[in-house]
Amino acid sequence: MTTPITPGSPEPVVTSDDPIRSSSPIPTPKAAPPDILRCAYMELVVTDLKRSRDFYVDVLNLVVTEEDEETVYLRTLEEFIHHNLVLRKGPVAAVAAFSYRVRTPEDLDKAVAFYTELGCRVERRAEGWNKGIGESVRVEDPLGFPYEFFHDVEHVERLAWHYELYTPGALVRLDHFNQVTPDVPRAVAYMEDLGFRVTEDIQDEAGTVYAAWMRRKPTVHDTAMTGGDGPRMHHVAFATHEKHNILSICDKLGALRRSDAIERGPGRHGVSNAFYLYLRDPDGHRVEVYTQDYYTGDPDNPVVTWDVHDNQRRDWWGNPVVPSWYTEASLVLDLDGKPKPVVARTDSSEMEVTIGADGFSYTRKGDEPEEMPSWKQGEYKLGHQL
Ligand SMILES: [Fe+2]
Repeated sequence: MTTPITPGSPEPVVTSDDPIRSSSPIPTPKAAPPDILRCAYMELVVTDLKRSRDFYVDVLNLVVTEEDEETVYLRTLEEFIHHNLVLRKGPVAAVAAFSYRVRTPEDLDKAVAFYTELGCRVERRAEGWNKGIGESVRVEDPLGFPYEFFHDVEHVERLAWHYELYTPGALVRLDHFNQVTPDVPRAVAYMEDLGFRVTEDIQDEAGTVYAAWMRRKPTVHDTAMTGGDGPRMHHVAFATHEKHNILSICDKLGALRRSDAIERGPGRHGVSNAFYLYLRDPDGHRVEVYTQDYYTGDPDNPVVTWDVHDNQRRDWWGNPVVPSWYTEASLVLDLDGKPKPVVARTDSSEMEVTIGADGFSYTRKGDEPEEMPSWKQGEYKLGHQL
């Protein structure tokens, strides 16, 4: 039997009254968390600075604020702080910092107290350590990620009205980070202590949590916690204004014979409702181009939970997720610049429960497995492909 499709009824379950709970939470510090405004920039270590500059500047048209032999500071067209992305030349491709802007200089003291109480390694870095940024606090957080907090910045020109600089795929804002971590409920509990709120998540009927999207600014997220071997960086995402900008990036990559930079998409997400495209840079760092998610600024913004077996959760059109998207991610560095060891996830893997040998997915909840067209089953079961 086929469930009738009800327009406007995508059937995610609203779970505001049933929050994600961790069985082994990181203790909540007594110290108040810093007041985080938004994700602000990512510092990426790249192995060939020229090749990476070519990708981010010549292909994606990010704006160079400043550069030298070792480092390129880049920003999007609507940004007024010095940079949204730092490319730093180094021996191992990795992420050196997930950086957040905080509301006041005093919030740096709060960050120090919060992470010191958690027993984390904490370093204050003087103004000038990174160009365009005042004093900052860098930590190795309880999940193993290099987090940074700063307030003071050098303002640069917001280029929003410079339409002569816009290209068909113009990137306008940094939108979010996405982190891979083995224990999503534990990560969510810590991030809630840090002041983040869950917007959407993916679970199964047994309550296993596969991913959670968390916000400070009033969009769907500033970062997401994706279940997998970690700590690793899954992707960094930049916003563009319209869907057609994403299609233009695809056309441009094709024209440049660089379509192999496209890993997944373009498509429409179920989670977040945004239009998306995933690219891989010359080092394999994953970059998402993202547009048209929704406003989340009210205090009673409803949480949306998706069933891991709903094959419209990650692509609203039901297109398959490529296995590399589930398995590959970038290393992250400790405060000495050494790669953090990766710890395996022990909970079920989203790839295995959806497209693995024992996995299954549905288009309409309640359908019998044989009601999935055979050509669609081939999309979702590894080994069904030619
Ligand atoms: Fe994303």
